[in-house]
Amino acid sequence: MKENPSAAAPTLKLLVFAASLRKESLNRKLATLAARVAAEHGATVDLASMNDFAVPSYDGDVEAGQGIPPGAHELQRRLKDNDAFIVCAPEYNASMSGALKNLIDWTSRFRPQPFDGRHGLLLSASPSLIGGNRGLWALRMPFEHLGARIFPDMFSLAMAHKALVDGDISDPALRSRFKATLQAFLSLAEAAKHYPCIKRAWVEFLGEPPGVGEDRVDPVPSA
Ligand SMILES: Cc1cc2nc3c(=O)[nH]c(=O)nc-3n(C[C@H](O)[C@H](O)[C@H](O)COP(=O)(O)O)c2cc1C
Repeated sequence: MKENPSAAAPTLKLLVFAASLRKESLNRKLATLAARVAAEHGATVDLASMNDFAVPSYDGDVEAGQGIPPGAHELQRRLKDNDAFIVCAPEYNASMSGALKNLIDWTSRFRPQPFDGRHGLLLSASPSLIGGNRGLWALRMPFEHLGARIFPDMFSLAMAHKALVDGDISDPALRSRFKATLQAFLSLAEAAKHYPCIKRAWVEFLGEPPGVGEDRVDPVPSA
């Protein structure tokens, strides 16, 4: 019998990050569901919450005096330990939450830049009819700026306080759409693990010539 080479291959390691501080967070519930679906598809899941990454407001003086805070070190570590990430994020006033943006800002200060080249999927849940989708479009921007490869499809659960029943999406059509989105993302992340895209150096500000602002340019990785 022929041996299946993928049988012994390590499974995809996935960080699933619920980006709300609230105990009864709808985004945490959706993240927990995403974690369960990903595990059913063979991923090894690291379920994280915003509380794991407590950081003060970004302040360049604090960074210069005390360095990057432990909460951002923890996110950097968990990004590096996993192959890909899912963020389940609330929408505040038609954008992302300030706490999440602040954490991204702190974490972006590491070199090499920890979001660069990582595959990510964006999810949201909200009691509103829009499901927090505008927040995801806002969130896509800093992630893509930082070099993350954000999956084209996103999933936003509208009226999440009613749509989530016993930890699952009660509407069959929505549930199957959610699972299909996750499955497609996991397939891409799995493929990218074995066939990485061509890696380019990440430069923080487009148009900045190499040699200027060295701290904002990651070194070109050797082939
Ligand atoms: C300051 C603030 C602004 C909000 N703005 C929006 C919004 O623009 N769109 C939306 O869908 N929900 C909005 N909401 C409602 C949140 O989506 C809702 O509180 C949600 O449950 C937060 O996510 P969580 O349950 O994961 O904590 C807002 C809530 C707050 C506190």
